[in-house]
Amino acid sequence: MIASMAPSAVLPAGDLMEPLAGRTVPAVELSKVSVTFGQAGDSVAALAETNLRIHEGEFLALVGPSGCGKSTILRLVGGLIQPTEGVVILGGREVAARALRIGMAFQNPTMLPWLTIEQNIMLPLKIVEPFRSQFRKEKRGAFRDKAHDLLAQVGLKGFAGKFPWQLSGGMLQRANLCRALIHEPRMLMLDEPFGALDQFTREELWAIMQKMWLAHRPTVLLVTHDLREAAFLGTRICVMSARPGRIVDDAPVPFARPRTIAMTFEPDFVALNQRLRSLIVEARGGATASEDPP
Ligand SMILES: Nc1ncnc2c1ncn2[C@@H]1O[C@H](COP(=O)(O)OP(=O)(O)OP(=O)(O)O)[C@@H](O)[C@H]1O
Ligand SMILES: [Mg+2]
Repeated sequence: MIASMAPSAVLPAGDLMEPLAGRTVPAVELSKVSVTFGQAGDSVAALAETNLRIHEGEFLALVGPSGCGKSTILRLVGGLIQPTEGVVILGGREVAARALRIGMAFQNPTMLPWLTIEQNIMLPLKIVEPFRSQFRKEKRGAFRDKAHDLLAQVGLKGFAGKFPWQLSGGMLQRANLCRALIHEPRMLMLDEPFGALDQFTREELWAIMQKMWLAHRPTVLLVTHDLREAAFLGTRICVMSARPGRIVDDAPVPFARPRTIAMTFEPDFVALNQRLRSLIVEARGGATASEDPP
């Protein structure tokens, strides 16, 4: 679990990339995927012929203008929606098979209001095997310790017994993250998980997320509007065009691990952010550089 993780070693970025490049079966593959919502005459084309491969153990950050289809990609990979055209393959199987352990943190934290924070966080353990059978037996106490451990990691020590409506928006986002991590998923889908947090808490959580990823190497797909966040966490960044979205830029992030906040102010890091920013300005339809990104 996060608390028991060994301190992360200083790894040159290349060490993180090379083993991934040699893999033959990608963890996730979207092949010519289109998604159209609604009926003819009143339809929205969210994605158009999108191709995307994510290799096992990669941390892919997906950025792009608002409404370009980022959450739609996450929902496709999670099996929550089906493509209108094309295929979505996870670990060599079509998503409809739904055999993988996926952790998801949605854009809006969806906690059940009648359950406490602890009960909400432990919910995946009651649903996902093999935890489900263990939950009824001897492991309940250990699972509770794990939930408390995660809550402490994200600065919510002492809030386990509260109800969701007793927490602020930022606190709910942190609890949401704990719920996505509790069953140690091999694949993590994160939809702007730090969006409602203040800058300092957000940066703290980047460090926790990086540590968790270095220790367990899950495959992560992170959607974010924060370009610093994408470059701090990602092994690779994909930029999407405006709706209907497709990937218009796909590049590895070359910085060594563990990355630090100080590194985000260094010239190479700032240059990467500027490049991403101009790609998004272009993707939004050529708005002037003086306009704010998404
Ligand atoms: N269930 C739905 N029914 C109809 N249209 C939808 C549905 N879900 C998404 N859309 C539309 O599809 C497009 C892409 O939506 P999506 O939520 O994937 O965007 P996004 O890139 O995540 O945006 P944001 O950055 O604002 O979260 C949008 O135009 C949205 O209105
Ligand atoms: Mg979204």
